[in-house]
Amino acid sequence: MPTKRNAPSIHLGLVGLGGATNQILPSLRCHPDVRIVAAADLRAEARERFSSAFGAPAYAEVERLCRDPRVDTVYIATPHQWHKQHAMTAAAAGKHIIVEKPMALTIEDCEAMTQAAARNGVHLMVGHTHSFDPPVRRMREVIRSGELGPLAMVNTWSYSNFLMRPRRLEELDTAQGGGIIFNQVPHQVDMVRLLGGGMVRSVRSMAWALEPGRPTEGSHLSFLQFEDGAAASLAFSGYDYFDSDEFHFWVGESGEQKAADGHGKARARLRQFADVREESAFKSSAAAQAGFDAAPPPAHWHHLHCGVTIVSCARGDMRPSADGVLVYGQDGRRELQVPRGAAFPDKGSVIDEMLKAIRTGVSPLHDGAWGMATMEVCAAVLQSARERREIVLQHQVPVRD
Ligand SMILES: NC(=O)c1ccc[n+]([C@@H]2O[C@H](COP(=O)([O-])OP(=O)(O)OC[C@H]3O[C@@H](n4cnc5c(N)ncnc54)[C@H](O)[C@@H]3O)[C@@H](O)[C@H]2O)c1
Repeated sequence: MPTKRNAPSIHLGLVGLGGATNQILPSLRCHPDVRIVAAADLRAEARERFSSAFGAPAYAEVERLCRDPRVDTVYIATPHQWHKQHAMTAAAAGKHIIVEKPMALTIEDCEAMTQAAARNGVHLMVGHTHSFDPPVRRMREVIRSGELGPLAMVNTWSYSNFLMRPRRLEELDTAQGGGIIFNQVPHQVDMVRLLGGGMVRSVRSMAWALEPGRPTEGSHLSFLQFEDGAAASLAFSGYDYFDSDEFHFWVGESGEQKAADGHGKARARLRQFADVREESAFKSSAAAQAGFDAAPPPAHWHHLHCGVTIVSCARGDMRPSADGVLVYGQDGRRELQVPRGAAFPDKGSVIDEMLKAIRTGVSPLHDGAWGMATMEVCAAVLQSARERREIVLQHQVPVRD
């Protein structure tokens, strides 16, 4: 959804100047309605680099950023365990909030954040997730149009090197929000909830920690049943063996064209570290050195995606293509071209959704209740896998199209 040029600008304060902020910055910088006016981070060198790149203040304390009158919206990209506290601080200061996924690590924390936003009259959004990807939204429109009949099932698979990239120690500890369940599964769940209408009835999962020395979940297989009888299966494997981009035109998650011979390269890189502590130190220093000058992706890149997703309705199937959606109907196959958003590579679509909420006063689709429902599914994936049983959900909310 391109932003209207007469929309108000968002005056954004960045909370956390690490990897996630670096990933979204190209989208923020080229978004016509975003002004980056301040930041906060614990690391002095990151604050200094931010201030010299943006000519704007960078604070050591999130409280001070939230008191800055130039800031009307904060983008929270600190590690998961800080999301609740930073969102509560921003809400109390009357700032709108975009918080990175996962919203928080417990349903109670998600609930507290949602209530704080409501109490203070600010919008709270959770993103970016792959449910924002334009081809996914286009598939939702086709489902709603009824053109292909009722939705039956969604199958989504992602095989990557996620767990075998350099990690810090806490990223390998599920209790601290490490592993795929808090980091990759929220993308899959948010996407299938959007496609399926939001209301997941129950979850049955198995999850595995398969790699010695990396004691957190790196793969899962989950079955989600929706209230209306539709269902979804979700598979993720992050062990650097098969790469599901082979089944997505060799286009990577960020839309880049990938080489077909990358298998095993993440593992080879890990072998350069003597142990996980050396790996952890490397990851921290790499984050510390990252700049704020990443260029927007080249024009020939494609849409973001998170693996192979096939949607099956009564009268046809669909899946995202590199630049749109492939529809396999009763008269054969056709491709719907899906335009890029205003701030390609479309991580900026979180801004469009927040702008619309500010302009209309209507809660964004990816609001606190939506984010909490996604986290409920992720928590149920863990619980189901541990207890080997189906988990019935309590906090689901429908898509507000
Ligand atoms: N949507 C996506 O695709 C995506 C991608 C990557 C990360 N993320 C999410 O973004 C969040 C951050 O991840 P990351 O990879 O950028 O981590 P990171 O460690 O690279 O960066 C975190 C930054 O926050 C700062 N920080 C830590 N505690 C702080 C505090 N109390 N106050 C102020 N600053 C503090 C750190 O100094 C660091 O600069 C995570 O929740 C992660 O799940 C989302």
